[in-house]
This record gives sequence, structure tokens and C-alpha cells, in this order.
Amino acid sequence: MEAATKDFVWSLPKAELHLHLEGTLEPEMMMTLAERNRVDIGYPDVDSIRQAYVFTNLQSFLDLYYAGCSVLITERDFYDLTAAYLQRAESQGVRHAEVFFDPQTHTQRGIRFETVIAGIHQALVDYHSAHGITSCLILAFLRHLSEEEAIETLRQAEPFREWICAIGLDSAERGNPPAKFARVYEEARRQGYVAVAHAGEEGPPSYIWQALDVLRVQRIDHGVRCLEDEELVKRLVADGIALTVCPLSNVKLRVFPSLAESNLPSLLERGLRVTINSDDPAYFGGYLADNLWAVTTTFKLTRKQVMALAANSFYASFLPESDKKRHLANIEGTAF
Ligand code: HPA
Ligand code: ZN
Repeated sequence: MEAATKDFVWSLPKAELHLHLEGTLEPEMMMTLAERNRVDIGYPDVDSIRQAYVFTNLQSFLDLYYAGCSVLITERDFYDLTAAYLQRAESQGVRHAEVFFDPQTHTQRGIRFETVIAGIHQALVDYHSAHGITSCLILAFLRHLSEEEAIETLRQAEPFREWICAIGLDSAERGNPPAKFARVYEEARRQGYVAVAHAGEEGPPSYIWQALDVLRVQRIDHGVRCLEDEELVKRLVADGIALTVCPLSNVKLRVFPSLAESNLPSLLERGLRVTINSDDPAYFGGYLADNLWAVTTTFKLTRKQVMALAANSFYASFLPESDKKRHLANIEGTAF
């Protein structure tokens, strides 16, 4: 069986399904925006920012991630952030990106919802016109905040309904089960949104059950702890629920001690619909192809296995069927 080369991994058409735009804020841009907006971030240079990126768990990362967001103030900042991500993603073979944004991270600091979404949306539209990359914007609620605050955020999103395709749930998982957000998900579903949720990254399998049965999500973000519950694995496989796995993130946040010790091979063996994603690439050391290449080399994946992962990313996307078919045909076409 033929091994997948680096060129092959980069050139393969891929969809990114688990990416936080705020997590693409590279230290260079953080410095630039800090100067532009006269925000004191407490670091003298780019190297000292990078040196701070040593995490012990999800919360230790979130503390830095939210602090970094303080440099994002104007519509132009959100535009630049999104445009820079799209450029990097395209250079790694991403053809379609379903990206999270965390409005509450910004509205809590006094930035208007409209400022955030207008900058992001314009960059997505412009990049699509110029480069053909399609996208879908996912509004993520911060689960460490209350459900009332999530409901208020959904209300703020109403004038921008057609710019947003789905809702999600992120931030500190432990102690904030999906069921806490039952009503806001129900209301969002009534408004026609599809839904995803982070579950089973640090939280137990019961959180994945809740995401499925209470929030009625179509994908699980992370979900790697599902293997602790045999019935849950059967359910995920039977319903074809995709997991948006983020290998480099899982190592940086110590979900697994190393990539070699991650449970990716077991997830694949069990027939789960796994997709590979980058989560917060500026903090975790790699964009989508970097993540795919890391698992390819660590687990000596064949071209066929890598193609299956790329195909899963389109199957599990919210693209119309005709677009999925076109991308899947292009993956086959890459198998020279
Ligand atoms: N998990 C939870 N919340 C997040 C993450 C994550 O990996 N990235 C950004 N917010
Ligand atoms: Zn995430």
C-alpha cells in the first residue's frame, strides 16, 4: 500500500470543519493589532508571546486565548483576521471552511455584535469571489456563561440570520454540560439553524449523549472520549455522526500525552466518521494540512486512508449534495 507524501496531503482537496477564527490570531498579527489599537498585551515581542503558549489543560489555553482577543476591536481587525486565515487555509488545500466565531468574547468587552460579524462576513465573501473557497459561519456560545446570555446572543444574531449557517458550543467543558443549553438550541432549531457542539474533549461520554439527544447536533466537535462508552460508539456509527478531531490541539491541551498515544487509530477501526481539523492553529502549531500530515506520519497512513479522511470532511460538511459530489470527485482525481 502506497504511503502518502507531504505533497499529496497538501494537494488533496479538504474541508475544515472545526476552526475557531479567534484561534487563528498569530502572534505577529496580535502585535500589529495591539499597536494599531493601542492595546497593552503585556508582551514585549512576538517571541515572548509564543513562549507563553505552554498549556496544561483546556482552561490554561482559554485564559490566553481570551486575553489575546483583546486586540480585536474594529470591523477591519475581524476582516484581517479572517482573510489571513483563509489565505493560510487555501495554501494547505482547504476548499471549504466551516468556521466558529465567539461573539460573546467580544460583546462582553463592549464590541458590538455587528462589528464582529460584518468584518468576518465581508472577508468570507471577498475570499470566495477571488479564490472560490466556500464557507459556513458557525456562531458558538460560550458554555462557561449562562444560557440566558446565549439566548441574548442568539437574539443579537437575528438581523444577520442569512450570514450564519449553524450554532455551536465551546469554551470550558467540565462542569458545563450540553443540557445547560437545551432551550437556546431548541430556539435556534426553530429558526432553522443546524447544530454542532464541543463534547467529549475533556468532558465525559455523558456530555456526548446530551449533545446528541438534548441538543440534537449533527456533528460532535472533538468527541474523542466516546471510546469509553461502547453503546455510544454504536450510536455514533449507526447514525453516521461525524467527529471533528483536532490532533495537534489534543496534544497541546494534554488530552493525550503524545500524538502516538492518541486514540485516532481506534476511532478509525471502530468505523467512526472521523475528520481532521486544526481547532486553534495559531496556538497549537499547525493548520489543516499540518494536522493531517502529523497523523499521516505518526500512524503511517496510506494514501487511501488519507483520502478517506479528506472525503469524510466533505461528507460531514453542511454543503449541498451537488457540491459534496464535486469535491469528492476531485479527491478521486488527485489519486494520480
Ligand atoms: N475547546 C473548547 N473551547 C474552545 C476550543 C476548544 O478546543 N478552542 C476555542 N475555544
Ligand atoms: Zn474547538
